[in-house]
Amino acid sequence: MDYSARKFDNAYLSTEIVLIFKRVVSMIVAIASRNGDKAVREALRILKGGGDLLDAVEKGVRLVEDDPADTTVGYGGLPNLLGEVELDASIMDGATLRTGAVAGIKHFKNPISIARRVMEQTPHVLLIGEGADRFAKLQGFEETNLLTPEAKKRYEDMVTGKAQLYSEAYRKIHGELLEWYKKYIESKSDSHGTVNLIVRDSEGNLAVGVSTSGTALKMPGRIGDSPIIGAGNYADKTAGAAACTGRGELSIRICLAKHVVDLMRQRVPVQEACIDGIRKILQLNDPLGGGMNVLAMSRTGETAGASTAAEVFYLYQDEKLSEPVRKTSLQVRV
Ligand code: GLY
Repeated sequence: MDYSARKFDNAYLSTEIVLIFKRVVSMIVAIASRNGDKAVREALRILKGGGDLLDAVEKGVRLVEDDPADTTVGYGGLPNLLGEVELDASIMDGATLRTGAVAGIKHFKNPISIARRVMEQTPHVLLIGEGADRFAKLQGFEETNLLTPEAKKRYEDMVTGKAQLYSEAYRKIHGELLEWYKKYIESKSDSHGTVNLIVRDSEGNLAVGVSTSGTALKMPGRIGDSPIIGAGNYADKTAGAAACTGRGELSIRICLAKHVVDLMRQRVPVQEACIDGIRKILQLNDPLGGGMNVLAMSRTGETAGASTAAEVFYLYQDEKLSEPVRKTSLQVRV
């Protein structure tokens, strides 16, 4: 028997395995909610050019925030009950577990960038309302009127005919408001929306950005899951990353993003982890209902999504693809 040839084969094989392993482990990957096409492309562009992971997240999400055609995020987002736009966002660095978030931003169109400044320039994690706006101004962000003429018109259309019922209900807070809200959530597919962007660099670091204008016609001061770390957003490079879109009141109650990441830490496959998370949402049996979607990426770059609804997809791009492709989020039923 020619042992030397066998030895050569083995050495060759193990080199190949190491190379394949390295290729998989070092894969640049980005995923986003379905409104995140621009965000995924930008993240890949930055990382393939050797850029920074947090820049990829921030700049990717900013493109969605800047787009007035997206009525659920940033500039042009649908306003609250009083016709004021209030924006929420968060960013998390899965390498260090550093994070920053803002809620109720009224005068600046890029809450993701303000969230990053909170993370990098303050000893805090979350700033809200007036204090968050004041911080943004001090940091040199440019003030913008967030209510575009189109969003104002949609707001007026939404409250026309219902305005009286709504304002009466608002005064009562419970009862009619809850009834109204339930009908509203059932009837409006665009009542809420959020952009999620999860990115992995060639070193295996993970980071997540989330941004939203929250539920349209929300009560002033309402904060959803997007700026709540662990609920709408979580990243830990030793386990994985997850982010959510949907009715934030649900994901806050079970810390959905952290739940999914914790399952991945226990080596539950990413798809199973997402399914388990959505199953827990359904088990809340919330009387107001509302949908929920979760996206996740394992520490090695495998991705999955799960949803309470059918026909939900997310966007995926890795360094070998020239553009994002759609991947189906699995619908979970109780
Ligand atoms: N998921 C966004 C929100 O509930 O505000």
